[in-house]
Amino acid sequence: MSGTGEMAVPAGPGGEVGTGAASGSSPQPAGDREYLMTTYPDPPVTFVQGVGAYLIDVSGKRYLDFFSGIAVTSLGHAHPAVTEAISAQAARLSHVSNLFGNIQAAPLAAKIDALIGDGTPAGGRVFFANSGAEANECAIKLARKWGGGERWRIVSTTGSFHGRTLATWSATGKSEALEAFRPLPAGFEHIPYDDLEALKAAVPAGDVAGFIVEPIQGENGIVEPSPGYLAAARAVCAEAGVLFISDEVQSGLGRTGRWFGFQRSDLAPDIVTMAKALGNGFPIGACWARAEVADRFVPGDHGSTYGGQPLACAAAMATLKAMEEMNAPEKAASAGARLAEALEGVPGVVRVRGKGLLLGVVLDGDYSATAASLALARGLVVNPVRPETIRLSPPLVITDGEIDSGCEILAAAIGQARSDADGA
Ligand SMILES: Cc1ncc(COP(=O)(O)O)c(C=O)c1O
Repeated sequence: MSGTGEMAVPAGPGGEVGTGAASGSSPQPAGDREYLMTTYPDPPVTFVQGVGAYLIDVSGKRYLDFFSGIAVTSLGHAHPAVTEAISAQAARLSHVSNLFGNIQAAPLAAKIDALIGDGTPAGGRVFFANSGAEANECAIKLARKWGGGERWRIVSTTGSFHGRTLATWSATGKSEALEAFRPLPAGFEHIPYDDLEALKAAVPAGDVAGFIVEPIQGENGIVEPSPGYLAAARAVCAEAGVLFISDEVQSGLGRTGRWFGFQRSDLAPDIVTMAKALGNGFPIGACWARAEVADRFVPGDHGSTYGGQPLACAAAMATLKAMEEMNAPEKAASAGARLAEALEGVPGVVRVRGKGLLLGVVLDGDYSATAASLALARGLVVNPVRPETIRLSPPLVITDGEIDSGCEILAAAIGQARSDADGA
């Protein structure tokens, strides 16, 4: 990897600063994984430290991070303000349960409400959870409570991803992946993404409580709907008396160039869910709903031992303040434009899709996994989200120099993977 970037990167655990040279493809030690459930494949690399846009593995090798742990560490690794907030709060009070008050949760809820209103209060209320799936569980339960027993079905889209709990997995639009877990909770229907006619046909049934949709489908390979679809879908839902739920777990909090993906369209959702970047790596999720909907929940309807605890809320408040200070949406928009432009002309790249710093690099063949592993060997972390698509979700603090170095590595990796695929 050329250059050291603008951020000082500490030495690896062995004392040396990694060179970024290829370290071969054999997996690195990650402790005795025999005791871990096999829900993920064996990792190719084991990280021990992160600073800004860089990660360092057990051997001391340094990597530029264009993935941010699936769009989570938007402020980069070990952001000083977030680290300081977590340490200070941990030293004072981590947890009390929601049976008592704490002074962190309410201001954070107000901050989220103002971001949803793009600077002015949006008039909603927030439930705090610990993950994206939990935020969506809350949305689904709230929609059913709001539906009062008459409206209970949830419509979602094919190709969507909403989480891995039984309800959010049922909402997720990957029918083949659902098979092993039957019987699934009843009341989930999938319609094609970006298909307004399908939505119009699905919602007038009278028993639909909510339509949950990602403004950009992240796990499906950074797929955007046609311009106008989301606003029209929102209008269809309003007409049919169905709640419009914007799943912003991946697209939210500045990454797409606006605070939330739905703000790119002229619409106001009934419910907005978020997680990932909210704590910059500290686990926290949130479900926002406009007050009239939120108020259907009464004590006992929903809850979480950890949700809204002081430690997580302190991490999230520090994250949002730092994002506001750097004007994260604007930074994502300009950095994303530079990144997309640099990759557009690369041989093998058919197009770059997405918004801001949530991008899908579409290749001219199914070799994204090879390209990603060659990039990793050269010191760049990217994600082969689909066989033909590489997902890029760098931290929003990425510098121009880091973008240029990463693009150089990625272009070389794509070139090599492409010729390997041609020769195969
Ligand atoms: C759009 C979307 N919703 C929900 C989730 C689930 O979030 P979590 O893994 O935090 O449960 C994800 C995770 O990738 C996501 O991308």
